[in-house]
Amino acid sequence: MNILIIGSGGREHAMAMALFNSPSKNQLFALPGNPGIGEYCECINIDPSNFREIKNFSKNNNIDLVIVGPEVPICEGIADYLNEYKIDVFAPSLEASKLESSKKFTKEIAFENNIPTGEAKWFDNYADACLYLDKLEAPYVIKADGLAAGKGVAICEDLNGAKNSLEDVFNGKFGSGQSVLIEEFLHGEELSYFAITDGKEILPLMGAQDHKRLLDKDEGPNTGGMGAYCPPPMLSTELENKIMKQILEPTIYGLRKRGIEYKGVLFAGLMVKENQPSLIEYNIRFGDPETQALLMLMKSDFAELLFETVNGNINNYNLEWEKKKAITVVLANDGYPSQYNKNAEIYGIEDAEKNPNVKVFHAGTSIIDGSLIATGGRVLNVTSIADTLELAREHAYSAIEKISYKGKIYRNDIAWRALSKIT
Ligand code: AMP
Ligand code: GLY
Repeated sequence: MNILIIGSGGREHAMAMALFNSPSKNQLFALPGNPGIGEYCECINIDPSNFREIKNFSKNNNIDLVIVGPEVPICEGIADYLNEYKIDVFAPSLEASKLESSKKFTKEIAFENNIPTGEAKWFDNYADACLYLDKLEAPYVIKADGLAAGKGVAICEDLNGAKNSLEDVFNGKFGSGQSVLIEEFLHGEELSYFAITDGKEILPLMGAQDHKRLLDKDEGPNTGGMGAYCPPPMLSTELENKIMKQILEPTIYGLRKRGIEYKGVLFAGLMVKENQPSLIEYNIRFGDPETQALLMLMKSDFAELLFETVNGNINNYNLEWEKKKAITVVLANDGYPSQYNKNAEIYGIEDAEKNPNVKVFHAGTSIIDGSLIATGGRVLNVTSIADTLELAREHAYSAIEKISYKGKIYRNDIAWRALSKIT
């Protein structure tokens, strides 16, 4: 089968590895890809937002399946566009992608279907939003309604800060015409949960824990994610059942009631308190960096899973995991998530990968004049598996010492929550 991956990050590198290692042998292409992805795929220099070129490439190369990594092309309707030309796509439709592109839409689905989530109200003008804020207590959660690359959420300890965040949204900081959601602050521990649905059945995959803040001890600004591990010890069978019954199943049912079929991966961002999950948000794609850890554990055929989903047959799929633990640590560029240097040369990846338990996924790297350069905010994802999380973490951090570039930064405490529970 010919498979085309859309995207250029660590998540797509991990998907490429899993597809390459799938027992069903496949010819792999990536667009635009990155130097790491090039290890497994032929990388094609087409912009992921150029749907017409993607369609032409897919037709000319007999692509059997297009897999879309990032949210932006999905929320711009790539699945609908390619389906029109009879090209199969592993990604939800434009309508279904509103679960990520509109926080208001997700809240409506949650409220209509009694899905546990924080109370929320939305506003399209500053004055009404302020009046409502005045009645609440800190911490205040302010969210721009639409896509904002993970930056549209502010959690404010004081009322003035919250009002400033409101102004930011209404002044167009996250795009013009954004409305705002003011949400109840949820206490607890965060969990990312992944399931696949073919429109009929839901196949639970696995949970993972991300580390959103830049610095150790969960301090500093929010980022795209600085590291992840799976499976998290907090994820008991009982909790997993609650996530399925109380959150995922009613969501798919609620969408169906509106005439929307969801095909693809559904990533629930959850807050868990006393073993009770609440929905924070949905993403309509695999998580980054969670996927880098998760796919290290997948034993069954990843390509087959994606094909069965698109064909509406996930019932036939026999999902199998390695009974191990996986961790990924993000190496970023000093200054991320704001301005950072884009010309440091990277050394030592080969040395880091001499440990067979370690895989280094590329996120923001480029080949410039024959050298590997750190050009992105998140640069590499050093990932490891082992029988225990402690060991996986030791492998990952020893591998990190072998990698060098000017401006290398990373968190030293990935998986601290799990390890503090184990020891
Ligand atoms: P989101 O983009 O909605 O995932 O929000 C980014 C981060 O903000 C989440 O990962 C949480 O850490 C935090 N967050 C969002 N909404 C809430 C909430 N209602 N209560 C507490 N924390 C939240
Ligand atoms: N790691 C969080 C995300 O992919 O949105």
